[in-house]
Amino acid sequence: MGRVDGKIAMVTGAASGLGKAIAERLAGEGATVVLTDIDEKAGADVAAAIGAGATFLAHDVTSGPRWDEVMAAVERDHGRLDVMVNNAGITLMGSIEDLNYDQWRKTFDVDVDSVFWGCRAAIGLMKRTGGGSIVNMASGAGIKSSPGLCAYNAAKAAVIAATKSIALHCGEKRYGIRCNAVAPGAVRTPIIDKVLAQVADPDAMLKGFEASHPIGFIGQPSDIASIVLYLASDEARFATGAVFSVDGGMIL
Ligand SMILES: NC(=O)c1ccc[n+]([C@@H]2O[C@H](COP(=O)([O-])OP(=O)(O)OC[C@H]3O[C@@H](n4cnc5c(N)ncnc54)[C@H](O)[C@@H]3O)[C@@H](O)[C@H]2O)c1
Repeated sequence: MGRVDGKIAMVTGAASGLGKAIAERLAGEGATVVLTDIDEKAGADVAAAIGAGATFLAHDVTSGPRWDEVMAAVERDHGRLDVMVNNAGITLMGSIEDLNYDQWRKTFDVDVDSVFWGCRAAIGLMKRTGGGSIVNMASGAGIKSSPGLCAYNAAKAAVIAATKSIALHCGEKRYGIRCNAVAPGAVRTPIIDKVLAQVADPDAMLKGFEASHPIGFIGQPSDIASIVLYLASDEARFATGAVFSVDGGMIL
């Protein structure tokens, strides 16, 4: 018997990296998974590889109108939503002096507005269909700042603060909806490769990532999928408003 048997789950940014690993793990533990992403080809391929029970929808998480359409499709096809994983995100490097305003805004559009839309949409459906679990993908970078990650630090800190407010609201309303954040340390996914591509000495940066994790190595996507699986499951029935650091000790 799977740990999320029979649950209906949606994962944004599921074409790649952590979202892909999370969708695969939830499906492997018995959930019906709706994968969404702006990368339609890769997203459809991931859903097809998962097989029965997985579907893909093209979805830009910064678009409010598209959120309405996607959530209407979930309700039409499945009748309810039990698990919402707001995972899609980007990392743009830069200090306060390096970043231009467009980069700052783009980071907030994708990393923060997506959580606003995603939580509103999920609550709208979940509160009518028996409650559920929302997981917002924050980052250790939302807890511990660096000089060269100004927009990303601020955006992920906003995700953590919003998660706590949403958990309080849903508790107060007795919706039966839990809302938690996961704060990974560095995990080798394409987002890390994109960061490495933005710097002059990627090898030195990778060694620096490893050295900044007291455990001595960086994570794998499965490390993060494991905590999301727990939060999605009924095992986490008493967990809400929390930030789950899975980061090799990075923030200590
Ligand atoms: N990998 C890490 O080290 C790490 C650490 C901490 C937090 N995170 C967070 O985990 C999440 C996933 O990161 P990842 O490492 O898997 O990155 P990734 O680049 O491998 O995957 C991100 C996915 O999001 C999608 N995406 C980007 N913009 C989108 C948009 N506007 N609408 C819909 N989809 C969009 C991309 O197409 C991609 O498939 C992000 O929120 C990231 O900030 C990652």
